[in-house]
Amino acid sequence: MFHAAVVPCLRKKTKPKAASVTVARHEVKFKEVRLFLVEKKMGSSRRRFLTQLARSKGFIVDDILSDDITHVVSEDSGAASLWAWLKGRGLNNLSNMQVLHISWFTDSMRAGRPAAVESRHLIQDALPAVPQGSTLAPVAAVSQYACQRRTSTDNKNKIFTDAFEVLAENYEWSQLKSSCLTFRRAASVLKSLSWAVKCMAATQGLPCLGEPTKAVMEEILQSGHSFQVQKILSSERYQTLKLFTSVFGVGPKTAERWYRMGLRSFSDILAEPGIQLNRMQQSGFLHYGDISRAVTKAEARALGNIIDKAVHLITSDGIIALTGGFRRGKEIGHDVDYIVTTPEVGKEECVLIHVIDCFKKQGIVLYCDYQPSTFHISKLPCQKYDAMDYFAKCFLILRLEASQVDGGLSCDEDDNRGWKAVRLDLVSPPMDRYAFALLGWTGSTQFDRDLRRFARLEKRMILDNHALYDKTKREFLAATTEEDIFAHLGLEYIEPWQRNA
Ligand code: UTP
Ligand code: MN
Repeated sequence: MFHAAVVPCLRKKTKPKAASVTVARHEVKFKEVRLFLVEKKMGSSRRRFLTQLARSKGFIVDDILSDDITHVVSEDSGAASLWAWLKGRGLNNLSNMQVLHISWFTDSMRAGRPAAVESRHLIQDALPAVPQGSTLAPVAAVSQYACQRRTSTDNKNKIFTDAFEVLAENYEWSQLKSSCLTFRRAASVLKSLSWAVKCMAATQGLPCLGEPTKAVMEEILQSGHSFQVQKILSSERYQTLKLFTSVFGVGPKTAERWYRMGLRSFSDILAEPGIQLNRMQQSGFLHYGDISRAVTKAEARALGNIIDKAVHLITSDGIIALTGGFRRGKEIGHDVDYIVTTPEVGKEECVLIHVIDCFKKQGIVLYCDYQPSTFHISKLPCQKYDAMDYFAKCFLILRLEASQVDGGLSCDEDDNRGWKAVRLDLVSPPMDRYAFALLGWTGSTQFDRDLRRFARLEKRMILDNHALYDKTKREFLAATTEEDIFAHLGLEYIEPWQRNA
């Protein structure tokens, strides 16, 4: 089959004689796909080049936007203006078209066939239509960015998000980063809903739900579980990696190495002469029973009291602030995260060192990994995403006495030791970085990721745990509170307990 739309475009303007026009005809390989490339931002000459490239690979590319188009490709990342333009074209079929970023086009050209549409390819309409004939309340516009959604700890869609987390973890361990992120983003969107998804029609208009995620949801709605997820959960590899990474100090790489060595259990690891556990892993195994058990809010508060006392032994104006999951209102956590600092910039590291010293004198330190500050203004803005921050910090395991905890410790009923090993992270940002550190350490990880992505893509700014940099103005934007940072980004303020994305 040959497609006629190729003809006008390949006529060379410099050859006026109609008789000499060479008509390059390309075989159409993908009849069901019909592309339209948006000229805005792309420019006419690049559009012509990309059109020719796609046609040479067997794609149909139309020059005119009509209801026959299946895939609209744009280089413009400003979703609002693109959608406004599309909606003004008088189309009847727009809701069935895939509106995609150029990355989908490049992926397709590289593959030599239409690439599967993933959520990262989608250019989302910020104002989606309400599902027609839906008995639900109208779906309010849900942003593709977690930092524009309010997500409490009350997750109404756990059956889906638990399944997505298994898939994401499995992709992460196979180093398939983009698939991992696809499922994490989808889970994050579902967590933000105040209602449970009961049918697929209800997901219409929701961002970040592509074909792969919808397929899993559909299966769960139909049969109560996903076959793919069940298969992963029962696989030896998943179970082993899950077990190994549950040890403090064991990351996915180490877990994978041990798995490849044929090790399947803790006793396998401990009996293997070729394995030298580092200090962190030794402590991880030693206190496994305690630190693999959830930390309660009361235990987190008890640690706060201990830190508070230690700080006030050296300074009356020390500042301690609970961060991490507990600041977001979670009832339990895998560790406790506190910021410890002082108003005087440059003195914060001394305070942290003193606090650790004080813990040691009390004999409550079971593990301590102190990391001095490597912070220097010249290192900013930091361009690496997901990088560790430069502040002085300390990863600890502390011995927490039952008598210090309101309502006692959460441990086995037959365990009457009267104490429990608990993981504590302390971080000491200088006071002029406090708001950024608080925002970063409060999380959730997915919320932070989207704050950074939003800053980068929508505002041309770079945000990390240290600072906010405006690339247009070429200056750092100061902030003393989290509210200041949201305001700089032009975002509505989201309270910590609404950041459980
Ligand atoms: P956690 O891993 O403690 O997560 O990191 P959490 O949300 O408190 O979850 P649970 O309840 O303990 O399981 C808290 C936040 O601190 C950031 C992480 O990105 C996360 O958002 N963080 C952690 C940093 O910014 N830098 C670090 O070095 C460590
Ligand atoms: Mn935590």
